[in-house]
Amino acid sequence: MQPRIYATMLTDCNATYHMNQLVNIAGTSGFPRTCIQYFMFNPHEIAAINLLVDELAAEFNSIETPQFAKMCEDIAIRLPPRVVELLRGLSSGTHRIGAVIFKGYPLDDERIGDSPRHWDAPWAGTACLREEIFQCLISSGVGSLFGWNTQENGRYLRHIVPIKKDEDEQLGGSSKTPLIWHTEEAFHPARADFFTLMCYRNSEGAATTVVSVDDIDLPEHTKAILAQERFVIEPDKSHFPVNNDSKQWRLEQEAFKHIYAMLEKPVPCAVLFGPTHARMFRVDQAFMTTVDDDTVAQTALDELHLEMNCKAKSIVMTPGDIMLLDNMTVAHGRSVYMPNYGPKQRWMRRINISIAHRNKAIYQDPSNIRRMI
Ligand SMILES: [Fe+2]
Repeated sequence: MQPRIYATMLTDCNATYHMNQLVNIAGTSGFPRTCIQYFMFNPHEIAAINLLVDELAAEFNSIETPQFAKMCEDIAIRLPPRVVELLRGLSSGTHRIGAVIFKGYPLDDERIGDSPRHWDAPWAGTACLREEIFQCLISSGVGSLFGWNTQENGRYLRHIVPIKKDEDEQLGGSSKTPLIWHTEEAFHPARADFFTLMCYRNSEGAATTVVSVDDIDLPEHTKAILAQERFVIEPDKSHFPVNNDSKQWRLEQEAFKHIYAMLEKPVPCAVLFGPTHARMFRVDQAFMTTVDDDTVAQTALDELHLEMNCKAKSIVMTPGDIMLLDNMTVAHGRSVYMPNYGPKQRWMRRINISIAHRNKAIYQDPSNIRRMI
């Protein structure tokens, strides 16, 4: 198979190339296979995307409706060809790229208004509707948007801002403590396949850390232990009612029953899974233990975490950047940082994405706590 040629700025873990330079990014199978890749929008692509944003903005004043999500998914196939090719390559699995960082989308710092003081910000009529639609479009090019009824009340697009009372927690609002390695909703069988993070503000320079399962180099016997169901992952605190009390939405108490059940009786799981040539993993360093205090399994887990630290890569996102992460092959975290705690404080947005054919659990979600289209 012929390697693919892209005319763009591309960066992987080992090398940086420049705009309009023809770069061969093929992996051994003829398709890209790398941990991090940068994608720079050109002016024509920005103009084309803005036309799609106009179209959706004329119909909706909020992205938080199933009708919006459906129309967004329909329209996403009209994104610029280079974008569609990359996004479809990721969703089909031909491109195995841990994190794609899209750069070059102009973000109007004045128009988007102040950073919210809390994640519980209004769902409709926001000053940043265009940026929200842009992120939804890129996300919908990979799969379907969804939210969790037990996390920010099911909203598709979460706010991630520093919250003083959470500064030492393993929550998005933390800052004084690093967010340690995790895949999103590692505890749940129907967790996201991919998710996007968009940066609105990050003058504090917080770094997002990523590590790909493809970069993990451990002895075979350690990998064999990690592939056995000797581990348990409890729901993280972002799914507790106390962290989801909202002025915008009524909490669905029923959904939390499943979280409590998972806390009381977590189901043993494997860390590594999938075919050996295309491994996937699930981790949540802060909420993960072993079945019956299995010391052998714990040692394997400790080795994995050490190896992840060794292979970690850091990315400081800047306004307008979108990072698309493969939640099955990449774990992520965040550095310590000093928040401004003001109108220009760090402000990130997150969207969960599901791919039906990859994670069939989407249709068999035992807890029914996902808010889908
Ligand atoms: Fe996260």
